[in-house]
Amino acid sequence: MKVFIVDNYEQMSQKGAEIIADVVKSNSNPVLGLATGSTPIGTYEKLAEMNRCGEISFKNVRTVNLDEYVGLDKNSDQSYVYFMSENLFDKIDIDKNNTNLPSGIAADFDEECKRYSALLEANRQDIQLLGLGSNGHVGFNEPGTPFDSMTHIVDLTESTIKDNSRLFSNIEEVPRQAITMGIFEIMKSKKVLVLASGRNKANAVYQMVKGEISENCPATVLQNHPDCIVVVDKDAAALI
Ligand code: F6R
Repeated sequence: MKVFIVDNYEQMSQKGAEIIADVVKSNSNPVLGLATGSTPIGTYEKLAEMNRCGEISFKNVRTVNLDEYVGLDKNSDQSYVYFMSENLFDKIDIDKNNTNLPSGIAADFDEECKRYSALLEANRQDIQLLGLGSNGHVGFNEPGTPFDSMTHIVDLTESTIKDNSRLFSNIEEVPRQAITMGIFEIMKSKKVLVLASGRNKANAVYQMVKGEISENCPATVLQNHPDCIVVVDKDAAALI
């Protein structure tokens, strides 16, 4: 695990974008594993800017996202499919047919999980971008998720529902379930990039980098990844 500590969110976003841009430039058909949430927004802005000024192109890029809320689809501005269009896909030259998220409105979620696992098998990520839950979750793999998990439906923990309620008009509106890429499928990515910013992530960052590897803190599994880069700002790095 390689850890970079930077001053602030802006620098974290810049470094994150440079690492992803290098992967895009050095592969003819790159597969990017992407995340949603507050953490990667700055990175996506910088990637869109690099695309605008011709430094990188996403024409040959395919993407796979980590997760989606159960019950939400592209018509909901809280869905992750909507988030990705708003924050990245509508701002770059990617073919949207090459972008993939698990569906939050599948008729049969067992089938949807199998479909997404097969898609991931056929599209191994060259890099997987991760944010970090304050409880150490990656994707929506909450504490206690087995390290060999594949795409599955998860009951969100109270702490995640509370953390994410800031983006909804009230806590009752936060979906209670999500569909998420499994930990096994995250670990299969050739490279992993974890971004974290802010004091509320400091404990999770400490556990991820220095804690005992345990399913009680999913991010600790990343200590076993052969090429994991962590970029955190000073506040998130406060305990390491
Ligand atoms: C998002 C995801 C989550 C977030 C995490 C941090 O696709 O899978 O694991 O990365 O909850 O969220 P933010 O960035 O909003 O603090």
